[in-house]
Amino acid sequence: MAFSRRDFLSTAVVGAVSLGLEGRDLEAEDRKKSDPSTSDSAAVAGKRPIIISAGNGFDYLDDAFAFLKNGGDTLDAALRVVKGPEDDPNDDSVGLGGLPNEEGVVELDSCCMHGPTRRAGSVGGVRNIKNVSLVARAAMEHTGHVMLVGEGAERFAVAQGFPRENLLTEHSRKIWLLWKETHSDWWGPGLSSPNWNKRLPAPPHAEEFERRIERMKQVASDIGIEPEQCMIAIRKVLFPPTGTIHCSALNEKGEISGTTTTSGLAWKLPGRCGDSPVIGAGCYTDQDVGSAGATGSGEENIKVAGAHTIVENMRHGMSPLDAGMDALKRIVRNYNGDMNRLRFIDMVYYVLRKDGSYAGVSLWDGYEPGKPHQIAVHDGTRRAEKTLSLFSGVSQEWPPLLP
Ligand code: GLY
Repeated sequence: MAFSRRDFLSTAVVGAVSLGLEGRDLEAEDRKKSDPSTSDSAAVAGKRPIIISAGNGFDYLDDAFAFLKNGGDTLDAALRVVKGPEDDPNDDSVGLGGLPNEEGVVELDSCCMHGPTRRAGSVGGVRNIKNVSLVARAAMEHTGHVMLVGEGAERFAVAQGFPRENLLTEHSRKIWLLWKETHSDWWGPGLSSPNWNKRLPAPPHAEEFERRIERMKQVASDIGIEPEQCMIAIRKVLFPPTGTIHCSALNEKGEISGTTTTSGLAWKLPGRCGDSPVIGAGCYTDQDVGSAGATGSGEENIKVAGAHTIVENMRHGMSPLDAGMDALKRIVRNYNGDMNRLRFIDMVYYVLRKDGSYAGVSLWDGYEPGKPHQIAVHDGTRRAEKTLSLFSGVSQEWPPLLP
């Protein structure tokens, strides 16, 4: 397969974008999305009951929707959706089979909020327990705390009857090994540091880049990565993904809940928690207003308290679409619209208002070409819709390519 740096680094929008707002008539797009004859993600007139989730929840919506429609609790319905990818060893962004930290250990994060009782639970950096979303609910229901982390959270889970198991699959172990043998490390200034670009050497020439990829392909083959998985693995090494699933559920009565779960940023430092276990960042639900959740660059989302910001925006009258776009613009503002940095950030918000209207918004169209970000929806009809993005093109996640 012919391969060039351009495959990774091409983005359609680079340059003079003042805080990312030019070029998109959001009001017009909002109106277009409100037209039920269009299929893309939407600020769609409300319908209840309804469940929304990240795209990887699509397969689990039918079961959860039937449960919700039959009077099941909104948080339990949302947990039914996210438990699917947590149990799936082939989803390497969540639960069993999640991509591990830099030491090859899978560490999971999750949180949940139960609207009707206005409660919250959260766990971070949990090892050896695959259904951390359920552990977060257990923390909410069986402790007086909101957040448990690390070894304490694992011991609590075991006390609650969750089985310990090895979460590292062969698939994820091999991609981690490829990263170990060809990686750049995490130490040094991060994306938001003024010294960030001092860490970046000049981009390699095309031939040098080709040689590097060939070297990685050889290492991948030696490790035993299947040829058809090779480029997928290399991309995950060069642009560590953050995966994650969020789900919010609203019933006929207007009760609403949300949950988010993840294995977090691949190859992270042990102990790193992203946004997913942070109430107000990875997930926020307010029974009076609605619910929001996030997938993508956790560090960036924590800094804008994304989910809470969105719910507060809706409280003050914004539509789900505008509320989500505003949170994205705050991330853009944090970088003064610097596209050289923003192109390393991937961010998706899933927004559900109490009246059943919803929106899926993203900073970029997708994480890689040809794979747009999607919001999965079930309101009687199950569907996957493209998110509405602030910028056209694909993100490249941190860290950037280093020779
Ligand atoms: N959004 C998941 C993470 O950054 O860990």
